[in-house]
Amino acid sequence: MVDFVPQVALQGFNTLALPARAEYFCTAASIDELHKALDFARQRALDVTVLGGGSNIIFAGDVAGLVIRLAISGIAKVGEEDEEGERVLVRVGAGENWHQLVLHCLHQQWYGLENLSLIPGCAGAAPIQNIGAYGVELAQRFVSLEAIDLDSGNIITLDRAACRFGYRDSVFKHELRGRVAITSITLALSRRAEPQLDYPELRNALSDIPQPTPLQVSATVCALRRAKLPDPVERPNAGSFFKNPVIPVSQAQQLKASHPDLPLYPVSEQATKIPAAWLIDRAGWKGVRRGPVGVHDRQALVLVHFGGGSGAELLQLAADIADDVARRFGVTLELEPAVIGGASAAGEGHSLVGRGQPDAGSGL
Ligand code: FAD
Ligand code: EPU
Repeated sequence: MVDFVPQVALQGFNTLALPARAEYFCTAASIDELHKALDFARQRALDVTVLGGGSNIIFAGDVAGLVIRLAISGIAKVGEEDEEGERVLVRVGAGENWHQLVLHCLHQQWYGLENLSLIPGCAGAAPIQNIGAYGVELAQRFVSLEAIDLDSGNIITLDRAACRFGYRDSVFKHELRGRVAITSITLALSRRAEPQLDYPELRNALSDIPQPTPLQVSATVCALRRAKLPDPVERPNAGSFFKNPVIPVSQAQQLKASHPDLPLYPVSEQATKIPAAWLIDRAGWKGVRRGPVGVHDRQALVLVHFGGGSGAELLQLAADIADDVARRFGVTLELEPAVIGGASAAGEGHSLVGRGQPDAGSGL
């Protein structure tokens, strides 16, 4: 039984706690319920927006059509990937909480997700931006996913290559943007502990422990995150508000010459990633408050909502930050979370940026 409720307040369904209403809202806890929801939308010619934990979205206004919150549960070992039985395939329902999944896998001694501890949201959203933290990306553990095509209702399976994962990027931000509901993901984990300590901050934090266990890595990642990222329950936010810009090596070298403390993360022979947080911080925005919205005082990449504000106010602050960074450093910042509702209700045409349009030349 699926309840389709008209005019539902979405403030409790996004970690920025932004006010917005859904024209219709329902929760789908199974594939059958998802099909029923898609039938409801088709019969009324409603647009469909799929929602997980709401931790990577900015509501720019009310959302036309049907918002479907996916709550499909289940974590199951579905096989071993090699003869030694070292690699374990785990299939996860889209509605499973990501951090609870990480803890469950650690408990089962299925390793590989520990660097991704404490990332908010649901498993079904993890492929959308190829979640990553502390030196590991989802793509490295990903095997395949199942999804439902929102138009046809057909079930589709995509392997890793088909998902076209990149840094905070995937096919779901391009050709398949807004066109599928991911219902489950399958991951390849390992029974053998292989700590990934490439991220300097993590390596330094564990330098006293010669062979850290996956549990220790997870606990350290949690401690590092808690020290700088605001808990959305206490201070609403959506994590990083911008992607870290990837710029030509020549431009990075020029910036480094005038700003020797700028950290550089080489990506290829042609491109270098630089921290957006550094640019925003050096431009003087860290800790700046503008009425109900502001920039977190311990991580300049995180914009926060103090309460009583709107998506428009937050997006205006983001646009002003991006303009200032472009003027000072000649670097374009691109929004990381998806903008939903308001002028972007039909999925296009929001004045600042659509639902993540990196291939459109981007930026604010
Ligand atoms: P939502 O916000 O509900 O949705 C995000 C987008 O995915 C929307 O466009 C939505 O329509 C779409 N979507 C959601 N579920 C599905 C589905 N099943 N099928 C199809 N489309 C779907 N991200 C990182 O990568 N690394 C981090 O370290 C990190 N740290 C964070 C820290 C904080 C404090 C916060 C608030 C966020 C952080 N994030 C981070 C961002 C966020 O947690 C991830 O992007 C997460 O995967 C979003 O999951 P969600 O379920 O909340 O997605
Ligand atoms: N920095 C500053 N000022 C600040 C914060 C950071 O100058 O206020 C500089 C420091 O030099 C620091 C560098 O920026 O070394 C990078 O900072 P940090 O290690 O905190 O990571 P980040 O690049 O800001 C990225 C991800 C996070 C992820 C962390 C850890 C993006 C857009 N963000 O942040 O993901 O948790 O690395 O891997 O890639 C998210 O996507 O929501 C998110 C939180």
